Amino acid sequence: MIKVEGLTKRYARHVAVNNISFEVGKGEIVGFLGKNGAGKTTTMRVLTCFLPPTSGKASVAGFDVVDQSLDVRKHIGYLPETPPLYPEMEVSGYLTFVAKLKGIASPDVAKRVGEVIERTALGSVANTIIGKLSKGYRQRVGIAQAIIHNPPVLILDEPTSGLDPEQQREARQLIASLAGDHTIILSTHILSEVEQSCSKVIIINDGQIVAVDSVANLHRRRQGGEMVAVQVAGAPEPEVRQRLELVPGVAKVIGRDAPEGSVAFEIEALEQYTVRPDLARAIVQSGWDLNELRTVGESLEEIFLDLTKSEVKPADAAPATTGATS
Ligand SMILES: Nc1ncnc2c1ncn2[C@@H]1O[C@H](COP(=O)(O)OP(=O)(O)O)[C@@H](O)[C@H]1O
Ligand SMILES: [Mg+2]
Repeated sequence: MIKVEGLTKRYARHVAVNNISFEVGKGEIVGFLGKNGAGKTTTMRVLTCFLPPTSGKASVAGFDVVDQSLDVRKHIGYLPETPPLYPEMEVSGYLTFVAKLKGIASPDVAKRVGEVIERTALGSVANTIIGKLSKGYRQRVGIAQAIIHNPPVLILDEPTSGLDPEQQREARQLIASLAGDHTIILSTHILSEVEQSCSKVIIINDGQIVAVDSVANLHRRRQGGEMVAVQVAGAPEPEVRQRLELVPGVAKVIGRDAPEGSVAFEIEALEQYTVRPDLARAIVQSGWDLNELRTVGESLEEIFLDLTKSEVKPADAAPATTGATS
């Protein structure tokens, strides 16, 4: 449904998106995850024909974003970071205006506006001035304008940012309810967002894709119990390892690189065990120096941070495809 091949976007001399490639299959909900400045909005603006690519290609529903931009726009609903709302208009009036703008035939406009108002649960504010709405409602109006022409593809740029937790939950529900009918890319800098809403995730960092994976696979990486990293000085590796293996709840002790004069391990605990206090005691009571003890891989956040550390090279990334093509 969406195909991006070697896409680069430069602003003057700054490379915002650097040779990225990915595909999104029909019906997928893909999370485009990256820190602020990673290049998410830029990519979305290219896909929605608001910006021409510097080089490379992108197509939506089989239409090229440069050569067939009118067709692309017809097949896309776009929620920009700042939705294009008119604060002085009423919700239903605004949606009527957008429906006409998007080429919906006059006799169908009222019906379609009614449908999207219902779909996005805006009935209670249909006659309210947009400027008086809460951020949560305004975002729903933004989503309503994106889906009004019933496009097969939705591109949502940070659809829950700036919302309070309750509004975020409602927005997520709304997006999930749209998933059946639309292929969706949503961008976010919040990992839990992707966990809750998406089946696949494309992680972008510094204009480059560092991972494409299913959310389930990302989760699998942290299955099992707690992972703890320790660094110890004062005894040879085998001796420390042996002692750590005796700590209740320890499943596995994996050696790691350590600075000169110390030894380091990653320790996998059995589920339901909190091994950190016992590890610390075992090390200290043996008379060794405990240089470091921290939980690793406790959340997807850690995996994300790992992947987006600047030293990650694109060559280390997973192949950039998310499955079925359009
Ligand atoms: N219009 C612009 N002119 C110059 N640089 C820009 C412009 N828009 C974005 N950038 C830069 O491009 C990079 C990617 O920005 P953006 O795509 O907005 O990232 P994200 O949406 O992931 O936060 C950033 O370094 C940003 O400063
Ligand atoms: Mg952005």
